[in-house]
Parts: sequence; C-alpha cells; structure tokens
Amino acid sequence: MSGPVERAAPHVPVQRTEEPDLSTEEPDVDTGEDGVSADAATPGAPLLEVEDLEVHFPIRRGVVVERTVGHVRAVDGVGLSIEAGGTYGMVGESGCGKTTFGRAVLRIEQPTGGRVRLGGEDVTALKGERLRRFRSKMQMVFQDPLGSLNPRHNVDMLLSEPLKVHGIGSKEERRKLAVETLDAVGLPKSVLERYPHEFSGGQRQRLGIARALMLRPDLIVCDEPVSALDVSIQAQVMNLLDELQGEFGLTYLVIAHDLAVVRHLSDRVGVMYLGKLVEEADSESIYEHPRHPYTKALLSAVPQPDPEIEANRERIILKGDLPSPANPPSGCRFRTRCPWAEDVCAEVEPEWREAASGHKVACHFDL
Ligand SMILES: Nc1ncnc2c1ncn2[C@@H]1O[C@H](COP(=O)(O)OP(=O)(O)O)[C@@H](O)[C@H]1O
Ligand SMILES: [Mg+2]
Repeated sequence: MSGPVERAAPHVPVQRTEEPDLSTEEPDVDTGEDGVSADAATPGAPLLEVEDLEVHFPIRRGVVVERTVGHVRAVDGVGLSIEAGGTYGMVGESGCGKTTFGRAVLRIEQPTGGRVRLGGEDVTALKGERLRRFRSKMQMVFQDPLGSLNPRHNVDMLLSEPLKVHGIGSKEERRKLAVETLDAVGLPKSVLERYPHEFSGGQRQRLGIARALMLRPDLIVCDEPVSALDVSIQAQVMNLLDELQGEFGLTYLVIAHDLAVVRHLSDRVGVMYLGKLVEEADSESIYEHPRHPYTKALLSAVPQPDPEIEANRERIILKGDLPSPANPPSGCRFRTRCPWAEDVCAEVEPEWREAASGHKVACHFDL
C-alpha cells in the first residue's frame, strides 16, 4: 500500500519555537537528540510496535475520602505491530477497548503498562518537549468530526492550529499548507473562511482528515472514521483514506466495529474482545478462515451480497452482553458467551499462539 512519498514533508521551513520544558517529573528516556528517530518510514520495517499494552482505569468510591475499589481493565495486554505504509484494522464490539488502545498509542491516554515504539524508539515514557514532538508524528481521525472541531473556528484556524501549537511556519506559510492539504482531501480553497456547521457529514470528515494531515504525520489512528456517515458517503471517505496513504506515505491503525470497513482498508486485522486480542491475521485469512468463535460470530452477523451464500448463512448468536471489563471472566474471557465453551475454558487462559503462518489466535480449540 505504500507509494511515493512526495508530499510527506511540510513545504514550510520547520522552525519550532523553543519553549522551556516545565515538567518537573523525572527526566525523559534518552531517545537521541530528536526524541523520535527519522527512519520511521522505511517500507516493510515496523513503524509501530506495541508490546503488552495496558490501560487500567481506577474505579473510585467515597465522598469525603476517595479510595480505589477496583480497575476497569479497558486494555489488558495488547501487542501488535504495523509496518510502515501498512494498515492494521482493529475490530470488536463497542466497549471492548479499541478507542482506549488507540488513545494510549498516541499518549492521549497514559498506559498503565507495556511499551510503544515508533520507528524503533521507545516512546512510552516520553515527557515534556520530547512527548510534544513525538505527538506531531501521530494523529487521530475521529468518528464525529464536528465534536472534535471547535465550532467557533473557521477552517483556516482549524487547520492552522496544529502547526501553531508546534510552532511551525508563519501565518502565510500555514495558510499555504492548509490550501494544499484541502486540495489533497478534495475541498476547494474557498472553504477556508467557512465554519464546520456549514459542511455535510462527508465534508466534515474530509476536514477532520485534513487537520490530521497538517503536521504530515507518520501514523494516523482512524477511530470509526466512517461510522457516522451515510452508506453512500462511506465508500468515498474510505477511498480517500486509501489514496492519501500512498500520497503521504501514511501508516494507519483503523478502528471500527464494522467489519466491512476494516476489510476494505486493512492488510492485517486484529479482533479485540474485552481488552485483549483474540485473533489476528492478514485480512483475507481472517475473513475466509476465521478461527476464533468470537470472530466467527462477528462475521456470521454480516449479511452476504450473494443471495445463495446469504440463504445458507449460519448465524452464531452470542449469549448475553459484553461482561464488565472491571471484572472479566476467569480463564478465557469469551467463555461466558461462547457456544463451544468447556470446563477448561473457565480454568485456563488460552495462550496467544500462531495457529498457522501469520495467523494468531487465543482459543483452547482450533476450529
Ligand atoms: N476514562 C475512562 N474511565 C473509566 N472507564 C473508561 C474510560 N474510558 C473508557 N472506559 C471504559 O473502558 C472500556 C473500553 O472502552 P472503549 O475503549 O471506548 O471501547 P470501544 O472503543 O471498543 O467501544 C469500556 O468499558 C469503557 O466504559
Ligand atoms: Mg470506540
């Protein structure tokens, strides 16, 4: 999916304003002079490597004296890697920890355990100025672009803001870059003076993508990028993401509850259940030969366009709701809803193993 990286660098001189690092916390992990290494975009090499990432939110009780009575284990030991120029699709029901994972990778949320590397550099413990520089290499596209855009800012301000925050370019240079970026997402220069509410859903998502592109990041986390859009508009936005990937040399983590969205865009797909990955493989293997009962259940819920296949589609109905991530089931987390669960599933947590070449699964049985 990687292509020429003609537009990968901002066309304005990168002069970062020197700001004193006011953090009083312990010193940064030494990652060399620039914080994050430059060879982040070597094709084929992993751009993002995540090891055993955990985000546990404390549950607090008490009015006068607050105490922690437990933890929501939103992300509970997730490891994956994405090669430069590649796309990793993460799927799973609402509440299984996808957004929290994406936010923790970007350090919007502080991980409580594990490690994140970008271009080979450990960025898990970066602080202050180094964290700020690292953040410019990773951006997020949200489900609801309007919610993430300040309604009182016109497009010019919205697009220039990330550059301003990072002290990049003069007003004119930022505007020039905004015009180029609008062009890349298929919007005319004339929209610069307009406000977010004046746009349709699809156009707003184009603006959200343009804003994420302004810093010419290496990685974009797209969190449910088309879930809020009409079906007819979804394909346009997915095609745009696909085009921009080649044009800007981007690596994507695409998060969606909708398997069709992830299938269209991804090279590799990971299936999340209650804070953990249960299956991961290349896109074709997951859809053609799913191994985990949860993946099978998710796929069985998707209507098939071919009427003959649709008539024979076997639906796997999951029992009950997603259990609480504050108190996940023993053994295999999925066992309370699994049609094939046996005693061992309650007692032993299944190992995350490679069941076939490049195809990983966590299940006691090979289906
Ligand atoms: N800031 C937070 N504090 C406590 N719990 C949270 C917080 N953010 C998310 N959660 C919980 O973490 C779990 C995973 O949420 P989320 O990452 O949004 O899942 P998804 O994106 O897959 O729908 C949910 O149970 C959610 O309620
Ligand atoms: Mg989410």
